[in-house]
Amino acid sequence: MNILLLGSGGRECAIAWKLAQSPRTDKLFVAPGNAGTKEYGENVKISATDFDAIADFALQNKIDMVVVGPEDPLVKGIYDYFGNNSTLSHIPVIGPSKAAAQLEGSKDFAKAFMMRHNIPTARYRSFTAATIEDGYAFLETLKAPYVLKADGLAAGKGVLILPTLDEAKSELRAMLDGMFGEAGATVVIEEFLSGIECSVFVLTDGVSYKILPVAKDYKRIGEGDTGLNTGGMGAVSPVPFADETFMQKVEQRIIIPTIEGLKAENLDYKGFIFLGLINVEGEPMVIEYNVRMGDPETEAVMPRIASDLVDLLEGVATQTLAQHTLDIDSRATVTIMLVSGGYPGSYEKGKVITGLDKVENSVVFHAGTAEKEGDIVTSGGRVIAVTSYGTTRKEALETSYQSAALINFEGKYNRRDIGNDLDKL
Ligand code: AMP
Ligand code: GLY
Repeated sequence: MNILLLGSGGRECAIAWKLAQSPRTDKLFVAPGNAGTKEYGENVKISATDFDAIADFALQNKIDMVVVGPEDPLVKGIYDYFGNNSTLSHIPVIGPSKAAAQLEGSKDFAKAFMMRHNIPTARYRSFTAATIEDGYAFLETLKAPYVLKADGLAAGKGVLILPTLDEAKSELRAMLDGMFGEAGATVVIEEFLSGIECSVFVLTDGVSYKILPVAKDYKRIGEGDTGLNTGGMGAVSPVPFADETFMQKVEQRIIIPTIEGLKAENLDYKGFIFLGLINVEGEPMVIEYNVRMGDPETEAVMPRIASDLVDLLEGVATQTLAQHTLDIDSRATVTIMLVSGGYPGSYEKGKVITGLDKVENSVVFHAGTAEKEGDIVTSGGRVIAVTSYGTTRKEALETSYQSAALINFEGKYNRRDIGNDLDKL
């Protein structure tokens, strides 16, 4: 079949790598893609949110399935755009409907959904400018630190964790005054949870589901989880504390109620669900829902899926996922992200990347890369993801680190401790 994949980051490069391995894939197109996705398919100069252009392209190129990488097109309703148009509705879109995508698009919606379905999450309340005094009063009932979340999409920056009540109150006012624009018109205030986080990915056709390999991402720029937050500096899979006992709780208390809840509320969902979980003394709690795969988790997860991804996605599209099996590679994977000097602050682009062809023992996924005059150059903060397999996580980390050392560009930086915190548990 002909597949159109939307997006342009490391996540999409890893999905493209996996889709291209399937004998079921005839043509793979990536819109807009990057210099790495070109190895697996044809890049198309269309933005992932330009629905009219995507629809025209899909019809002209006899696309049989659209796979959506990032959240933006999903929250903006690409599933419904195709489904509600008689000339497009024969083309399945892998992702949730616009209504179901509110699980990521609105924190208030997600929290209320979890309350309705008894899904374990932090105690919370939502406030607007009209109820700011109630917000202050609610903050006074909580203990430090204080967690404030802008309701809408804020490019990963909408969550503030404040050490004192005074700061929490002034940031609440700033958020409601428009610090995050419309996204912060409603603010969720919730109890702080203490524990270690992991990312659980579920593929669902709306009636049944498969649990994909669990991963953990590393968000801070510095080793030892220090410094500023980034889009993600690396990931590992599997996650030792997400053992059978923990995962049984996740399935019974979170995954099944989520799928049943979507069904009961007639929220169409045919795609990936990303559960951001925190392990609070052995009990899984939901920190957030995302309606897509994680980045850089996907770069560690896709290589561990042994089954044909096109078969699985077809099962999602035709609601026959239950008839498919999901085989997992038992080896560990570790992904290291190579980033531009200065990131997550300001950084320069256009640096020539060398050594990509020297890597033999790892899989290289492009994140922020472009082609310029025959060279591959940096075009973003996160540039290249290097993933390796290992019998152990340590072995995989070592291989990724060795491969990362073969790749060069001016200002290159990477962490060397991805996954090491898990040894101490
Ligand atoms: P979110 O965008 O909701 O995932 O929040 C971003 C990050 O803030 C999460 O990955 C957590 O590290 C942290 N966080 C969010 N909510 C809480 C909470 N209730 N307790 C502790 N940490 C949290
Ligand atoms: N790695 C976290 C995310 O994709 O949101």
